[in-house]
Amino acid sequence: MQNVILFDHPVIQTKLSDLRDFSTDYREFRALLGEIASLMVYEVTRDWPTRPQIIQTPLEKMTGQVLAREVTLVPILRAGLGMAEGVLHMLPEARMGHLGVRRDETTLQPIAYYQKLPPDIADTEVLLIDPMLATGGSASAAITALKNAGVTSMKFVCLVAAPEGIQAVHRDHPEVQIYCAAIDRQLNEKGYILPGLGDAGDRVFGT
Ligand code: PRP
Ligand code: URA
Repeated sequence: MQNVILFDHPVIQTKLSDLRDFSTDYREFRALLGEIASLMVYEVTRDWPTRPQIIQTPLEKMTGQVLAREVTLVPILRAGLGMAEGVLHMLPEARMGHLGVRRDETTLQPIAYYQKLPPDIADTEVLLIDPMLATGGSASAAITALKNAGVTSMKFVCLVAAPEGIQAVHRDHPEVQIYCAAIDRQLNEKGYILPGLGDAGDRVFGT
């Protein structure tokens, strides 16, 4: 599938299996989600541009490479927050924006309720994070909000994606790359991913 990058790494898959297990409590769930998010960062950032920087080692001067652009991490509230710490662990210099989007439980349509982004977000590399891509409504609305803020370089990083969600994001934003650790079978009649891992927000926060 074009613009979908699936992580088949055995360590990520092992942690994802633990995460899916219904007996995993919220403390363990939170820890696992953060660990997977950290592991994903290497691959997600692989093609980011670097620029040369002169540095002085204890022995001599040399030209090293550093990231060319600032980084902004944008979790979709609430469940995206569960991945944020893990990403920040690898990219501590990143700034954070927040997008609050929740699904209407009946219509499954996204409702945007909060937005706070760094003013110069347009000049940065943006990672939009949310563990679940179900109908795709929330991700698509969040990507639109980022585009409206001038963002031109962004990636969407999730954990579990449904085919329906991938299709919707591709339809609305074909150029945006989607990174995920699993593409599950389908949605159920309530818009939950099967087999999935349940309600990610509830499992992260113990609600
Ligand atoms: C969950 C999840 C995504 C969204 C995915 O959030 O974290 O944001 O559902 O579903 P979609 O692809 O069909 O839009 P939810 O709406 O449950 O809000 P919460 O994180 O505040 O619980
Ligand atoms: N949101 C979740 O948290 N889980 C799903 O399965 C679908 C949407």
